[in-house]
Parts: sequence; C-alpha cells; structure tokens
Amino acid sequence: MGALGFGVDVGGSGIKGAIVDLDTGELVEDRIKIETPRPATPDAVAATVAEIVARAQWDGPVGVTLPAVVTAGVARTAANIDPSWIGTDARSILSTALGGRDVTVLNDADAAGLAEYRYGAGRDVNGLVVLLTFGTGIGSAVIHRGVLLPNTEFGHMEVDGKEAEHRAASSVKDTEGLSYKEWAAEVSRVLCRFEDLLWPDLFIAGGGISRKHEKWIPRLENRTPVVPAALLNTAGIVGAALVAANPQETGIAP
Ligand code: BGC
Repeated sequence: MGALGFGVDVGGSGIKGAIVDLDTGELVEDRIKIETPRPATPDAVAATVAEIVARAQWDGPVGVTLPAVVTAGVARTAANIDPSWIGTDARSILSTALGGRDVTVLNDADAAGLAEYRYGAGRDVNGLVVLLTFGTGIGSAVIHRGVLLPNTEFGHMEVDGKEAEHRAASSVKDTEGLSYKEWAAEVSRVLCRFEDLLWPDLFIAGGGISRKHEKWIPRLENRTPVVPAALLNTAGIVGAALVAANPQETGIAP
C-alpha cells in the first residue's frame, strides 16, 4: 500500500469520510457515513467530521469538501447548505474540532474533479477537462493539464433566463417529474452554453445520476464528448484526501 490520506465529503444529506490510498485513489476501508446534522451549522458539521475521523482512528491531516466557494479556508457562499457558513473560517473551525491538526477545505466539485483527473475518467486527457456534478445543485470543476481553476460556479450561470442548476440539476428531474429524455434536453442546453464559453476537450458527468448514465448521456446533443465519472460516490473523499496530502501541489493552499 502507498501513501495514505483522509478525506471527508460534506453533502446535504450525508457526511462521508475514509482513509484513501493515494497511489491508487481507492478507499482503504468502507467509507463512514453520518447523516448531515440539521441545521447543518459550522459547529454541528465540525463535530460530525471529528466523529468520523475518530471512528476511522486517523491522526494525520484531513481534507474536507463543502458545497460552497472556499477561498483561503473561508466559505464564501452557501447555495445548498446552511447560510451561517458564509464568511465562516471553515479551516480553523474544523482544525479546532480535530485537535488543531492540519485541515484543507475546498469546494466539493473541485475535489471530485481533481480525483477524476488523477485517478478516474480524466486520467488520460491532456487538454481541458470540465467535471460537472449533477445533484441538489450543479457543481463544476475546470482542470487544465492537471491544474485546477478553483471555485468555478457554472451551476449558477444563467442559461436562457434560468440558472443552470435550476434547469438541469438532478434534483430538478425529481421535483418536476421529468423523464430522462426531458431532463437530458435541459442538460444539453446547459452543456451547449458551457462549451461555447469554455471549449473543453471532455466533460465528466458526476453526481449520483451518473450511475444511470446509459439512460441519458447517449441522448445529449452537445458537441463535446461526455463521459460518466469513474469514482462515483468516492470522488469527493478521494479529492479531499489528495489535496490535504499535497496542498501546495494542487494549488489549493493559500
Ligand atoms: C454550489 C457549488 C457546489 C454545487 C454542488 C452549488 O449550488 O454553489 O459550490 O459545488 O452546488 O454541491
């Protein structure tokens, strides 16, 4: 086994963490999942993260994802989490909850993008890779030849008068009862807009719905190839662990 790291992925419904083999991007043991506390305030989430780390008996540095813009460890937005995160020094709250150890905090989609680029669907791509996570919202990660452009928020780009994530997040499919065909048409519309502005070589589609990729990816009508994420529900954890172990190398460290 190679070098190990620890990543925690904070989501709207669950907080998940695991020890990661950084040579392969595989989890060393099953991930530990605890329901996200309600309300998901910084202190409540930090206590849950500490519980996960303690259960795993991990005592090294920890990477943590948030569904928010994160600059220099501070959460700047809170589109689908408790608004009390905005302006919170997430890194210091989490570090205190973890006994003062090194903590790196980053956006959830950025973590997933780095993990897919290093170990998954973006591995052999030499150009511009855009990972999109389709879930409650739409997260985005833009990576060019291994270098992440952090905190892109393409899910909030207006596409034909509506935010992209209000058109094409997978939650919209559920709440509006859309068929895969109807939902894929919305995803195509959003992807066409993104590709006109970014010209990526590859889109990677992540989020839970990428598990059913055969039902919708073949229906997409945009021009850039779209492939399903390879790491599925571990990408956030793996990316967070990777960044915590190499904060300088990944460009996330302040
Ligand atoms: C947030 C992003 C996040 C994405 C996926 C969006 O609403 O603004 O920061 O990456 O949801 O969780």
